[in-house]
Amino acid sequence: MAEALVTPWEVKGTIDYDRLIKEFGLKAFLAQTDPFDKNVLFRRGSVFAHRDFERIIAAVREKKPFVMMTGLMPSGKFHFGHKMVADQIIFYQSLGAKVYLAVADIEAYNTRIADQAALRKTAIEEYLMNYIALGLKPKNCDFYFQSSRSKDGEKASAYYRLASMASRHLTANEVEAIYGDITPGKLSSALIQVSDILHPQLPEFEGPCPVIVPVGADQDPHLRLARDIAARMPQHKFITPSSTYNRFMVGLKGGKMSSSDPLSYIALTDTPEEAKKKIMKYAFSGGRETIEEHRKLGGVPEIDVSYQWLFTQFEEDDKKIKKIYDDYKSGKLLSGELKMILVEKVTTFLEQHQKKREKAKDKVEEFLKA
Ligand code: TRP
Repeated sequence: MAEALVTPWEVKGTIDYDRLIKEFGLKAFLAQTDPFDKNVLFRRGSVFAHRDFERIIAAVREKKPFVMMTGLMPSGKFHFGHKMVADQIIFYQSLGAKVYLAVADIEAYNTRIADQAALRKTAIEEYLMNYIALGLKPKNCDFYFQSSRSKDGEKASAYYRLASMASRHLTANEVEAIYGDITPGKLSSALIQVSDILHPQLPEFEGPCPVIVPVGADQDPHLRLARDIAARMPQHKFITPSSTYNRFMVGLKGGKMSSSDPLSYIALTDTPEEAKKKIMKYAFSGGRETIEEHRKLGGVPEIDVSYQWLFTQFEEDDKKIKKIYDDYKSGKLLSGELKMILVEKVTTFLEQHQKKREKAKDKVEEFLKA
């Protein structure tokens, strides 16, 4: 097994999520609590860990104001792994959260991609338009670029001031303990991300309130940094931010889904025909060599990517997914038939989504007011 590595800058190998929970000091996500159990991502374990999520459950129950804050790295195509995060953002918005959404263009510039115009185009055409088509509403949504926080000078200053002045509260040893050897570009990106996470609580924004930050498991070092700094700036009365951690969506061929490998994902702009071809040809199968063997021994849903995709997002009905599992395991359902169930779900989704995406074009401006 390849040595697993999970850092904000690189993720590779086979990830042991239980080990991550221990290493990072997270709590396992067991919240089969109303209303989170209504959402397939929470119910089926795609959200696998948290810090201080109790505070968010309480805010939702008591109908108290809270913020959902997260950021996106504008690189590559928007695929179903990204959709998992988008669905959570929209779910929180429906629960009454004020949404803060940062385009991490300073981070991208300092660590990977220098072309600012291309970053902006990707952020809008890939990310924002898909978010809108998936149901993100402009009301109660503050969508901004790290490089251009706000036209309101008081607000903009508050955000950049926090990013600059947080440094006082950090020693070189702590930076090393959290990130290891780190370049100046990565460190400044980490600090702007700290400001992303904490600034909603500044007086120029919402003031102190519970904030939930849903992220991929690789982002936890930034959360630890933000929590430490929050505690060291008592003047701001920050409430420690809460966070939840997503599993990485498994790639079509098994292993990691990666924006740099188009055969590992299906993009929300792929045509239904492309999607079908990718699934039929590349989706890793837990089926047997021959039909006879498959009927006799049954398939292995645990390693079958089509089954995993159905389980994590495409078949939300608990009874139906159980039947698919049982039929596949017993050998009644063949690999090709299982793939066709997924193809049906994915192509229906894409057809509807792409129509909505066309309409989303007209709404983009409403989100670019920050
Ligand atoms: N670093 C994140 C990524 O690579 C993006 C990001 C920027 C972010 N600011 C954030 C995530 C604030 C959560 C909260 O995907």
